[in-house]
Amino acid sequence: MIFRQLFDRTSSTYTYLLAARKGGEALLIDPVVENTDQYIQLLEELDVKLVLAADTHIHADHVTAVGSLRNRTDCAAAMGEKAGVECANVSFREGDRLSVDDLHLDVLYTPGHTDDSYSFVLPDRVFTGDTLLIRGTGRTDFQNGDPAAQYDSLFGKLLRLPQETLVYPAHDYNGMTVSTIGEESRYNPRLQVESKQAYIDLMNGLVLDDPRLMDVAVPANRSCGLKHAA
Ligand SMILES: [Fe+2]
Repeated sequence: MIFRQLFDRTSSTYTYLLAARKGGEALLIDPVVENTDQYIQLLEELDVKLVLAADTHIHADHVTAVGSLRNRTDCAAAMGEKAGVECANVSFREGDRLSVDDLHLDVLYTPGHTDDSYSFVLPDRVFTGDTLLIRGTGRTDFQNGDPAAQYDSLFGKLLRLPQETLVYPAHDYNGMTVSTIGEESRYNPRLQVESKQAYIDLMNGLVLDDPRLMDVAVPANRSCGLKHAA
């Protein structure tokens, strides 16, 4: 498998490139529009053909590149069905598989950070979007965020994956790149709660500034990043 973890320094976003083999099909998860040229160059250098660009959810802190990549490469732009956006030409839901050659990512619906949050599961790793971060969880105070739903996504779905499953989140602000389900179960401070209500209280007690780009990014991302001021 070809696997690359790319980092956008402005928004601290991780973008993932996956392909089964050289010369084969590739998938990008959570690409950032400003980095479109970099992705195109890397795809050429790795000798893979982008067929799918997918967002784990409608992001509030950066503009997606799924639309710009579709324009440049003819790949499909994939968003979750709960995103409800018309710009996507692939709409996925829980139980679906996103496939490039013989690499198959199982789609889990993991709402809570937003009501359109999804995770993508491979046998040895999971792309958790902003549902599960390394030693954190995605905020639940806007975009139809819901701490109760997030608790269910975390404890009912993600933490039930095998302990050794690698965790690749959509962001990190502390220099961490990868974790495992077992490590997060033990050491993620947000997951050390006694009950669902305790988690809800913890999340509702957070006082956070809105993301700087939120007013630009959310509407832009509803059009796959193709209509934005930048
Ligand atoms: Fe997010």
